[in-house]
Amino acid sequence: MKKVITYGTFDLFHQGHANLLRRAKELGDYLIVGVTTDNFDIQRGKINTHDSLMTRIEAVRNSGYADQVILEEFNGQKISDIIRYNVDVFAIGSDWEGKFDYLKEYCQVVYLPRTEGVSSTMLRHKNPLRIGIVGTGNIAGRFADEARLVQHIELTAAYSTDENQCREFCSSKCIEVQAKSFEDLLGACDAVYVATPHFTHYDYVKRALLAGKHVLCETPFVLRTSEARELLDLASEKNLILMIAHKTAYCPAFSQLVFMVKSGVIGKVVDINASVTTITDENSEKMDVSKFGGSMNENACFPALPIVKMLGTDFRQINFYSIMKNGVDIYTKAVFRYDSATASFQVGLGAKTEGNMTISGTKGYIYVPAPWWKTDYFEMRFEDQNRNRKYFLPFDGEGLRYEIRDFAMTVSMLKDSVSSDSSSEESVHRSIITEDEIMAMTRIQENYINETNLFKLK
Ligand code: CTP
Repeated sequence: MKKVITYGTFDLFHQGHANLLRRAKELGDYLIVGVTTDNFDIQRGKINTHDSLMTRIEAVRNSGYADQVILEEFNGQKISDIIRYNVDVFAIGSDWEGKFDYLKEYCQVVYLPRTEGVSSTMLRHKNPLRIGIVGTGNIAGRFADEARLVQHIELTAAYSTDENQCREFCSSKCIEVQAKSFEDLLGACDAVYVATPHFTHYDYVKRALLAGKHVLCETPFVLRTSEARELLDLASEKNLILMIAHKTAYCPAFSQLVFMVKSGVIGKVVDINASVTTITDENSEKMDVSKFGGSMNENACFPALPIVKMLGTDFRQINFYSIMKNGVDIYTKAVFRYDSATASFQVGLGAKTEGNMTISGTKGYIYVPAPWWKTDYFEMRFEDQNRNRKYFLPFDGEGLRYEIRDFAMTVSMLKDSVSSDSSSEESVHRSIITEDEIMAMTRIQENYINETNLFKLK
């Protein structure tokens, strides 16, 4: 029996895929199809896959050409599969011409003609999500650069109260519409990315939601729980996505770390410590008391995330110890008491600490080196050092591409569920940061503003 093998992502299964599988099958008697896993795709820089792995496998099966479907999980797996399944022919589309000649040592290699005029990329570009940006400072610049790497979205407009800055932003980031007002911006997009100083978030988010736009809002979201509740309720009432642009939450390594901790690999979590500090210019708005500056207001949302994700939202008490200067905290240490765990974080705009994170459990601990909020690597450590493990996952560029991709996918899943008229709960994609977590993180910020258990040091 002549065995043929081929590989692909097979996202949004199309005629080109069907033709390729038919041609591959015609080369022998038995066709094995390797479908790439989500993790492998992310590792090789393909972060835009629309369909889940199961959907892609089903599509390959339903084509009727595959006799066997396997998963492709790592670089170099092709050689091992060819040997293991005793494959005679490796077939792939002509867009890969020459790239797999190294397999000729193991079997025959055939490049099949590619079907013109169709590709998953092209299909993903259909009806892109049109995003408008409000606020055109540094973070918006990084967002625009990373957004280019995410398919299925288009940056259509930008607005800033600083007209000159906005003009420069639109021209350097190739954004067509320089909106004259926020309303003008709302008219030119389906979703808004709010990248303005945090004390303006409530107003912009509310206006965007009232205008029927999905929202991705920079951190910190808002500092008052009443505002957070109102905005979350408004989004749900209007069936819109409201997500927080907390880039750490969407990093592949951070998600894996949280799932591992939740599944008990280090036993019961007894303590978490994380720190985020940057030395900031004293004249910066971030240090301006009248603009709600200060280390807690600016940075607490970063270390608050792993704490509420892994220990839950039900903390009993937080003590804050702040070193103050000109009315703002240049450094704050927060200490949490849960029913059966503790946690702490340090944030600073005028002091520097090691920016790592440790999660301590009854069986071992996880160590994430600085800067932990750009997690791409962590270690699991035990009493018996032979059990220690290191985990590496991708974190490319500024890491914003993961949150942008998640936002685009969440909006698209919501649209799909609306268009298929499915009212079932399961059909709606859930945000990585849950409403309860958003509320808990806001409660931490609010406790601080209310000076609850705040000890001001000189
Ligand atoms: N293929 C093809 N003709 C097309 C598109 C894909 O023959 N028009 C082939 C590819 O050459 C490959 C297989 O189908 O052998 C799976 O390709 P995949 O990368 O999953 O599909 P693309 O549509 O090329 O996806 P993307 O646009 O994301 O690169």
